[in-house]
Amino acid sequence: MATNVDADALTAEVLQSFSATPNERTKEILGSLTTHLHAFVRDIAPSIEEWEQAIDFLTRTGKTCTDVRQEFILLSDVLGVSMLVETINGQETPDATDSTVLGPFHMVESPVRALGDDASPESEGPRCVVSGRVVSIDGTPIPNAEIDIWQADTKGFYDVQQPGIQSIGNGRALLRSDSEGRFHFRSVVPMYYPIPTDGPVGELLDATDRHPYRPAHIHFLVTAPGYRELTTHIFIGGSEYIESDAVFAVKESLVKDFTENTDPGEAARYGVQTPFRHGRFDIVLHPGS
Ligand code: BEZ
Ligand code: FE
Repeated sequence: MATNVDADALTAEVLQSFSATPNERTKEILGSLTTHLHAFVRDIAPSIEEWEQAIDFLTRTGKTCTDVRQEFILLSDVLGVSMLVETINGQETPDATDSTVLGPFHMVESPVRALGDDASPESEGPRCVVSGRVVSIDGTPIPNAEIDIWQADTKGFYDVQQPGIQSIGNGRALLRSDSEGRFHFRSVVPMYYPIPTDGPVGELLDATDRHPYRPAHIHFLVTAPGYRELTTHIFIGGSEYIESDAVFAVKESLVKDFTENTDPGEAARYGVQTPFRHGRFDIVLHPGS
């Protein structure tokens, strides 16, 4: 075994320790991790106290995780890593609808609802309609696509955050596109909301003077046989925080105007009263699996 006389020799020795890793990808990842992590530590030259503080932060991040809370994913989100991974993978499907992060609130099954149903029957507030089509990259309609949607209410709360106030399933719907790929549902326009701040990630935001808010959005998870799964949201145009999402997940193509509609005929067609807000979202899936 070598004795390390300097930092460069130490990095080389650690890299060498992985040289017999049988899986090439594992070897590549550990090699890159070693190189970048050592460069980072050299760059910041932490004191022993700072190193212990970092270990304590990561330990508490792990201890904050439960069956229904994932503080490590939240850490990845606020550092922009989740969005970086999304973007790298999304580059394989440039013609399809842009993807964005899944987030932590897709934790219960959405109730099956018919096209046109209200996804937020327990939520108060003016109704909106969201409509669009699911199509392939060549424009071919995709019938019977599964469209799972979930959203916060007009005060910025998901059902799972308000036991006893909202029933599980409020703000959620599992829909199927019709024979021409069309879909529509009624709901309320969601409000912006803060990501959880009562754990280590909240401390990080506090220490860096960052706000915890996400702009108003509706999540979509769309699947159809023969097509790549799409995880995305639409953002409500004009929402506060659209320029400064705490998790960096806004893509311009996903910002949709929810225009006010006062046409009684249209309102009757969708089963809402005038005025209502109408968001349109065509979903383009990439063939593959
Ligand atoms: C969400 O939109 O549900 C979300 C995404 C990332 C972090 C926290 C919440
Ligand atoms: Fe969300």
